[in-house]
Amino acid sequence: APAYAKTSVVTAARMLDVESGRMLERPVVVVTDGRITSVTTGGATAPAAPADAERIDLGDVTILPGLIDMHVHLTSNPKYGGYTGLRFTDTFWVAQGAGNAARTLRAGFTTVRNVGSDGYADVGLKQAIEEGWIEGPRIVPSAHALGATGGHCDETYLPPSFDRKSPAMGDSPEELRKRVREQRKYGAEVIKVCATGGVFSRNTAPGVQQLREEELRAVAEEAEFWRLPTAAHAHGADGIKAAIRAGIDTIEHVSFIDAEGIALAKQRGTYLGFDVYNTDYTLAEGEKNGVLPENIEKERQVGTQQRENFRAAARAGARMIYSTDAGIYPHGDNARQFAVMVRFGLQPMDAIRSATINAARAMAREGDVGSIAVGRYGDMVAVAGDPTRDVAVLERPVAVIKGGERVR
Ligand code: ARG
Repeated sequence: APAYAKTSVVTAARMLDVESGRMLERPVVVVTDGRITSVTTGGATAPAAPADAERIDLGDVTILPGLIDMHVHLTSNPKYGGYTGLRFTDTFWVAQGAGNAARTLRAGFTTVRNVGSDGYADVGLKQAIEEGWIEGPRIVPSAHALGATGGHCDETYLPPSFDRKSPAMGDSPEELRKRVREQRKYGAEVIKVCATGGVFSRNTAPGVQQLREEELRAVAEEAEFWRLPTAAHAHGADGIKAAIRAGIDTIEHVSFIDAEGIALAKQRGTYLGFDVYNTDYTLAEGEKNGVLPENIEKERQVGTQQRENFRAAARAGARMIYSTDAGIYPHGDNARQFAVMVRFGLQPMDAIRSATINAARAMAREGDVGSIAVGRYGDMVAVAGDPTRDVAVLERPVAVIKGGERVR
């Protein structure tokens, strides 16, 4: 090994194998220069570690792969709802985003997909984290979300004289192909597109489709051409089915999915990310935070149905990913969604898979993240007790390790 190799040896009482669902005894995980080089369990002899290896003995805990949240907005902050955020300058959002990144990592989420931010802020946060200036998870950035002019992902809060529009709007297949290339040029590693209206925009209806299937297909094809995964914001049943047929990899929110949509997702292998926690936060705190009454009203209409449809999708065995929309609720509370998923019918082990192996597969990163296995990054979270019996223990990680470094 080169002289600069840094090795850590992580030991614990138990390790959850997220592929098999089995609990393994006495894991020894060796991480060299950030990646896992050996995993042994049950007292098997681990390869001898160099004398200067760092020993991270976690004791009576269960380790599992570092968690993945497939849908966050690190630059958003729920405290500033409606128009209350307009008092801040543009760079305020990325500055406070640095704190949000640290909170997310310390909550056990070692990888996040940031699916929408202004000014390539998520690309900047990723670079600052990789350079070691700030603490945070691995970020898969989308940069700006694509969408229709006047749609959910455009600027919808200001009158025409302000002349504000998002730079990633497109109103034909050709325009949207160009938007894919522009986002990729400046750092997007996933393409996010808004297929329907949404809750937190003005003059949009969550149930109504906003891009035609041919436009969504142009986005999916162009992204695939450049080897990028895709994610669609879609609440309404028609927009959801159009996005699935168009070949989008993950459908997010999925609130009004119908039986046909569930069957289609299963048949096409499309992953579904239901953000079933944030309803609780918005209904409890939204008004205080300045969220407009019309948006709270939309949340009421969406939330209840979304949870019932999540139950139907879980029962049907749809492929699930863990998408929380953190930024709608405070960053760092990402793990609260596990308990809601279980309450609405998902098996605990499947909830854990949604935030580990399924998430990694849905964005073609299973060589890097999503399981504790040789070759993957040395990303782990440790909890007291057994998360397959009580997923709420994931809300209180006792240790977080990223690339073999203990960060909590
Ligand atoms: N960003 C999403 C939107 O504005 C959030 C939806 C939150 N509500 C929910 N029940 N999932 O549409």
